Amino acid sequence: MEQKIVVVGSCNTDMVISMERLPLPGETLLGGQFLMNPGGKGANQAVAAARLGGSVTLVAKVGTDPFGSRAIEQYAADGIDVRYVNTDPSHPSGVALIMVDSQGENCIAVASGANAHLTAKDVDHAKQAIASAHIVLMQLEIPLITVEYVAHIARQSGKLVVLNPAPAHPLPESLLRNLYLLIANESEAEQLSGIPITDMDSVARATDVLCAKGVANVVITLGSRGAFIREHGCYHQIPGQQVKAVDATAAGDTFCGAVCVALAEGKSLTEAVRFANRCAAITVTRMGAQSSLPYRSEVKG
Ligand code: RIB
Repeated sequence: MEQKIVVVGSCNTDMVISMERLPLPGETLLGGQFLMNPGGKGANQAVAAARLGGSVTLVAKVGTDPFGSRAIEQYAADGIDVRYVNTDPSHPSGVALIMVDSQGENCIAVASGANAHLTAKDVDHAKQAIASAHIVLMQLEIPLITVEYVAHIARQSGKLVVLNPAPAHPLPESLLRNLYLLIANESEAEQLSGIPITDMDSVARATDVLCAKGVANVVITLGSRGAFIREHGCYHQIPGQQVKAVDATAAGDTFCGAVCVALAEGKSLTEAVRFANRCAAITVTRMGAQSSLPYRSEVKG
């Protein structure tokens, strides 16, 4: 039987300008290229998982504006169950302003809008979906109290709770204890563990601290250097993929969605991370968030 993935998280519309370099504070730069495409860490991870072959339900909130309705249509076109993407008449859909430089590095400002009003009550409407899921995947672009609630109810009913702590925020140990897997990048791992990450030894120590705080397993993504896994007290380092980076936006989201798809297919965490590395490497070679997410047919192996 196909194992289901529920993603609880944010939906944004991304307004992207790519430039030779990022402007300095107070500076105006001309000559950029504009792209509008759907984004938001929650939706990106849901779309990534669906395109990679997962059976995905998204629990989220958008406004009653055209950004929201267009986003829902696009999620549905990717095969996502959108029954629990709520509309909020009082708040606009989330928007992200993104600038990308010629090296593929970005900076992002988000107006959360309706995402900041996804509540435990909204989650309760989706309880049936969570009950029938194998994996529940979240990020931190919705209220932390909602993330804590979902983690609690999902863990109580034996689900694998996966958290991508992006954007970074201090997290209570009561939440960390409910996590089967934390997938963090280097700066998130540094902020959550308090360990400055300078080399592989410090990466391993950061995972030790996170596991001591209650997380069962940790993956730290290292960009082109691959990823580091701490699973049941054992360490594995997975090499990266060398590609020409065009835009790093949503590479982490692709990675998270891909790990969950592979776990839902019964693969080991190490196999899941290898698969996710290959998927994320495709995303960085293309512009935008959901415009860059790969399909299963594009991924080798
Ligand atoms: O992770 C990338 C995403 O972060 C973008 O799509 C943007 O919407 C922000 O949420």
